[in-house]
Amino acid sequence: MAIYESIKPEKESTIKQFLDNPPEPEMSIDYEVNKKDFVNSGKASSDIKLLLKKLGVSTEVLRRVAVASYEAEINITAHSQGGKIVCNLFSDLVQLFFIDIGNGIKDLEKALEPGFSTADDLVREMGFGAGLGLPNIKKNSDYMKIVSEYNDHTELELLIFF
Ligand SMILES: Nc1ncnc2c1ncn2[C@@H]1O[C@H](COP(=O)(O)OP(=O)(O)OP(=O)(O)O)[C@@H](O)[C@H]1O
Ligand SMILES: [Mg+2]
Repeated sequence: MAIYESIKPEKESTIKQFLDNPPEPEMSIDYEVNKKDFVNSGKASSDIKLLLKKLGVSTEVLRRVAVASYEAEINITAHSQGGKIVCNLFSDLVQLFFIDIGNGIKDLEKALEPGFSTADDLVREMGFGAGLGLPNIKKNSDYMKIVSEYNDHTELELLIFF
């Protein structure tokens, strides 16, 4: 099993405090994500964005949440056997989990390199496979953690502050 963690330095102490002692979320929503379902994939991230917009979250944060969650949702559809998204809302941040079963990531460090992709022909036909999803998710999140076991599962956790 491989683990990768990335923390925005300016938020490090707040993030560690949150992770060490996670409070109860004010709201929690689950979404199912199906494999190779490019017709519906993206709906959960769009729903999350709309919800945050209604709550008055700034345009800049909405953009970051939209980009990170869309890329992660598509990754479940494109690279796994299916999974779910859990969106936990707090007063000052959103915590997102992208949990799937199936393929897992063989080389996590490599998967994070811009341009690296194992996307199959179908995924490429749908316009994905540039190998920019994970780098984009990292760039747009305050905290990112990936836990993956090859041939088994992948779990991605993101924190984005409002
Ligand atoms: N949920 C996942 N399950 C299994 N493998 C994954 C998962 N997410 C990413 N990967 C692996 O990491 C690689 C890089 O992912 P990344 O999102 O950066 O690029 P991509 O999905 O291939 O292309 P793009 O996101 O630019 O359309 C993927 O090609 C795949 O091998
Ligand atoms: Mg991707």
